[in-house]
Amino acid sequence: MGSRMARNLLRKGFPTTVWNRTPERCESLVKEGARAAGTPFELAEHADVVVACVADPPAVERLVFAEDGLLGAARPGFRYLECSTVSPETTRRVQAALRERGADALEALATGSKNGAENGTLLFMTGGDPPSTRS
Ligand SMILES: NC(=O)c1ccc[n+]([C@@H]2O[C@H](COP(=O)([O-])OP(=O)(O)OC[C@H]3O[C@@H](n4cnc5c(N)ncnc54)[C@H](OP(=O)(O)O)[C@@H]3O)[C@@H](O)[C@H]2O)c1
Repeated sequence: MGSRMARNLLRKGFPTTVWNRTPERCESLVKEGARAAGTPFELAEHADVVVACVADPPAVERLVFAEDGLLGAARPGFRYLECSTVSPETTRRVQAALRERGADALEALATGSKNGAENGTLLFMTGGDPPSTRS
């Protein structure tokens, strides 16, 4: 799902940086113009918005809260979109940690499966605070 979404961002001309636990899986996106980050921290350093699409809550823990996780690079204005299927508790924990750093998160579940991700036709159902309450 994530690689297909990233490919569509590249096709639309958005500067895109990618990170994956298994770095080799980023190679085709790099050939198509993406920049590869070595760690989630580096990913967040180079992005205003990170779209997370990993397997499960432990994968989100690794992405966000590990020593080289993206939380360390979160700053005011930074945004995190959670497209991974995780528990409400995980979503709230990530959101609270980001808010402590002046950043914020949106829950962004998608329907449309891999074809939708490939064709750029995913439908997102988002949850978060209205814009007026965000930094
Ligand atoms: N497939 C769908 O139709 C669909 C639709 C809506 C939502 N989703 C949700 O989107 C998420 C991704 O789904 P997918 O179909 O793209 O799954 P996938 O192809 O199995 O990809 C899973 C991704 O999670 C990474 N990952 C797994 N464990 C990790 C860990 N401990 N630390 C860091 N990264 C880890 C994997 O990295 P490696 O490459 O290193 O293994 C891979 O990049 C899931 O939460 C799924 O429920 C899927």
